[in-house]
Amino acid sequence: MSKLKVGVIGAGSISELHMGSYKNNPDVVMHAVCDLNEQRARALADKYGFARVYTNIAEMMADTELEAVSICTWNNTHADLAVAALNAGKHVLVEKPLSTTVEEALRVQEAVRRTGKQVQVGYVRRHGANTQMLKQFIDNGDFGEIYYAKASCIRRLGNPGGWFADKSRSGGGPLIDLGVHMIDLCWYLMGRPKVKSVSGNTYYKLGNRANVQNLNFYKAADYDASKNTVEDMANAIVRFENGASLMVDVSFSLHAKENEVSVRLFGEKGGAEIEPEITIVTEKYDTILNVTPQVNSLKLNVTEAFQNQINHFVSCCLNGTTPDSSVDDGVEMMKILCGIYESAEQGKEIYF
Ligand SMILES: NC(=O)c1ccc[n+]([C@@H]2O[C@H](COP(=O)([O-])OP(=O)(O)OC[C@H]3O[C@@H](n4cnc5c(N)ncnc54)[C@H](O)[C@@H]3O)[C@@H](O)[C@H]2O)c1
Repeated sequence: MSKLKVGVIGAGSISELHMGSYKNNPDVVMHAVCDLNEQRARALADKYGFARVYTNIAEMMADTELEAVSICTWNNTHADLAVAALNAGKHVLVEKPLSTTVEEALRVQEAVRRTGKQVQVGYVRRHGANTQMLKQFIDNGDFGEIYYAKASCIRRLGNPGGWFADKSRSGGGPLIDLGVHMIDLCWYLMGRPKVKSVSGNTYYKLGNRANVQNLNFYKAADYDASKNTVEDMANAIVRFENGASLMVDVSFSLHAKENEVSVRLFGEKGGAEIEPEITIVTEKYDTILNVTPQVNSLKLNVTEAFQNQINHFVSCCLNGTTPDSSVDDGVEMMKILCGIYESAEQGKEIYF
């Protein structure tokens, strides 16, 4: 089988997880890297062995040897870069979220249909070993119908600043940044039911809490305490046509006692917690059982999940198969996220 010549657009923080995983894949040739910041692109090209460095996307797209790209740039650039890459005949793995609006997401979907190339959305949590293990239980009916899910990703002090805090580049705050992972993980494990309506709230009460002393937190390279246009926190309830529902809350800033990530699913015959640790809950002979699977790690192994995600993408590109996290799933997620923002703005439930 011939190897896949890959490129990475955006040489910032997350790009290294893509690059490291491509490097480990024997079916990949490290071909090109592109960033507006040449120094950053060159440094990672040297580190991971990319043959070519670009600072201009049009020049990269004109590279006829390049077959597939990861897009690891600011959210507002995802859709345009994806369409440009598809038009140039490249396959695309785009970081989450697919876009910042539904209209942009639909443009990417149209380009996929027109060009016949693959788009995979970076829902990396789907590729965690425990997610895949749990999905086997769900698909085999061990939990019965899953009718409720509840997910939280709470940071009490965790607005990264920089482009993350600039709505014009990020599309929003913790909802589009963290909520996208939480909602997708639940939605995927619930069997991707059709969304009926969403009702959400967003709050801009605490700002980025730049006043807080004696507690460090991750800051983007261009952190500027005076700049922040995104929500501190969001919560929502998503109703599905099959009667199931999902509750989610996420924050960059909140007067919470501690940070928290929790993802829980509840079915007629059993339930599961996948974050912070995998646990299966069931009932047998009138006794409740909390089951701890004997697995390598009860928690999400991020590096392993990225490797699985990249391996899946490479295999789909080489074999011409549609990725599991397809563009259609990216469009559905943008409808949910944008619906929640719209609901919060209008103070009412949004029906699809
Ligand atoms: N899957 C995950 O768990 C996860 C985690 C973190 C970030 N992300 C996503 O990855 C993306 C990047 O986040 P990050 O933390 O690496 O940001 P970052 O700021 O560290 O890096 C972004 C890079 O993109 C470059 N860039 C921006 N626009 C460009 C363009 N048009 N052409 C070329 N380069 C461009 C910037 O110069 C910068 O080097 C975001 O969409 C974010 O949501 C995903």
